[in-house]
Amino acid sequence: MPKTAKRQIRKKGSLRIDIISCVPQLLESPLDYSIVKRAKEKGIVSIFIHDLRDYASGKHKKTDDYSYGGSAGMVMMVEPVYKIIKKLTRQRKYDEIVYMSPDGELFDQPMANKMSLMKNIIILCGHYKGIDQRIRDHLITKEISIGNYVLSGGEIAAAAVTDTIVRLLPGALSDETSALSDSFQNSLLSPPVYTRPADFKGWKVPDILLCGDHEKISRWLDSQAIERTKLLRPELLEK
Ligand code: ADE
Repeated sequence: MPKTAKRQIRKKGSLRIDIISCVPQLLESPLDYSIVKRAKEKGIVSIFIHDLRDYASGKHKKTDDYSYGGSAGMVMMVEPVYKIIKKLTRQRKYDEIVYMSPDGELFDQPMANKMSLMKNIIILCGHYKGIDQRIRDHLITKEISIGNYVLSGGEIAAAAVTDTIVRLLPGALSDETSALSDSFQNSLLSPPVYTRPADFKGWKVPDILLCGDHEKISRWLDSQAIERTKLLRPELLEK
């Protein structure tokens, strides 16, 4: 039988996430609906999206420039990023200043669990060919990748990370235990789920789920989680 998930759960206080982007529109709708929206309304999380252009100098509010050495693609400039990060860190202490990048540490459920215990997080979204290395050397404390592929920018990755963390905050889900039964919380995939009707054109819900014996059902769900993991993601069991 799978062990009960032993993740630490945040005890008190809300989480603040500041996301810095030069295309903030990309973040608005993923973080404005469903569970994240409700968590914001309940005061469980505050999410502030900062437009990097507001910190750029000159008439054209440039946030990127040609790269030294002549390699292809524009590079995000140091100054606007420096200004916004300094402004935020003067106001409060941050647990992590994250840069979303395919070079980063691969994001997973244990990392999300750990981040859900933090108080203040900054997430910087890259664009173009990347950001000036000096930002990474002097300001960033952690680089996170959501997978071994390259997105056009860090916004979609930042939204994925934010959503994963927010659903772990106590009170974000209506049923507290449902985050514990998410896939990956025990290094196992979730068992299959069904709803009415019990028979759709001959496609039947397994009889056991209709038997009313909760202990038997729970044992069956556990065994299904193990079987599914063995079949679809055997490497999770090796961990
Ligand atoms: N930016 C571009 N690709 C990315 C990825 N795979 N993960 C995180 N940020 C990214």
